[in-house]
Amino acid sequence: MSNRSPIKSVRWSNDGRSVRIIDQRELPERLVERDIAMLDEFCGAIRTLAVRGAPAIGVFAAMGLACVMQRRVELPRDAFDRELETAAERLRATRPTAVNLAWAIDRMLACAASTPGEPLGVATALRRTADALHADDIAMCRRIGELALSLLTDGARVLTHCNAGALATTGIGTALAPIYLAQEAGRAVQVIASETRPLLQGSRLTAWELERAGIPVTVATDGAIASLMRAGKIDLAIVGADRIAANGDVANKIGTYALAVLARHHGLPFYVAAPTSTIDREMASGESIPIEARDPNEVRAFLGAPSAPLGVTALNPAFDVTPAELITAIVTDRAVHYPPYDFRRIERQDR
Ligand code: MRU
Repeated sequence: MSNRSPIKSVRWSNDGRSVRIIDQRELPERLVERDIAMLDEFCGAIRTLAVRGAPAIGVFAAMGLACVMQRRVELPRDAFDRELETAAERLRATRPTAVNLAWAIDRMLACAASTPGEPLGVATALRRTADALHADDIAMCRRIGELALSLLTDGARVLTHCNAGALATTGIGTALAPIYLAQEAGRAVQVIASETRPLLQGSRLTAWELERAGIPVTVATDGAIASLMRAGKIDLAIVGADRIAANGDVANKIGTYALAVLARHHGLPFYVAAPTSTIDREMASGESIPIEARDPNEVRAFLGAPSAPLGVTALNPAFDVTPAELITAIVTDRAVHYPPYDFRRIERQDR
């Protein structure tokens, strides 16, 4: 078991005037922390994946709004409200798929709308709401871990994709939460992290944080998973989610759908773990989930070096949608949900 300090993907800096992040673009080579204070920097950090993972970007955007608006308390109230609205819309536009981002921003706007009086009081309320979202995220991760732990048999060899761990949240992760709790309980568990082309969140980030925690982890290319399943080297898969539609369709990192198809073909359980803030009750099915299209250059290059002809057309959808019928269970902070899924009326933490 590791005795290292817990990973803090985002937190307030010591003077509380900026937000300290782990810059995930630098991992696994270097552990670099940066302090972010300006709106442009908050937006840039999310867009370039310095801060990433659905729950983490939600909390980070909320802290960003609190941080930026605490410097604007001298404004008259109506100008303060207009600036808050503009900042919120700029942050919202940074990444379209992860619904936690819009959800957290809406919580912040609702907080301002329900706080009468001078901007100083509103800024204080915004800070309190951001802190509450942060605390809730930590608690939700732990609860997901407790519920999902029952799905892991002793000695399980668990496939995960992308990074849905401590780096992607402000707690112990979603898909990786039961792995951390298994370790805490002294249970044997092994993780197979698929590399996750093109930006390698699996090999760069999941492998980094699990190794750091002393949890056995093996990296494999995305293309190797089918034969590993066929060879009986994987017992189950558990992944995170960026948005879950009311019918249980799940948007997650590109490649997730392929893994779910493979799991079904090989008779393996395929689980999704996510907080209730990732459920979009208003979205009837996955068909309407907006899928972020990222820069094709991320596909045409590998770690900065060209890996395809310069001008070749490249597609770079950041996410795909796994149909509910391929998902064995969805673990939220409330329950382990089994098909048929119906999240139309599920309660969220709507502060
Ligand atoms: O593009 P990313 O790295 O932000 O994608 C992250 C994922 O797809 C995660 O699986 C998802 O956000 C869940 S994180 C707990």
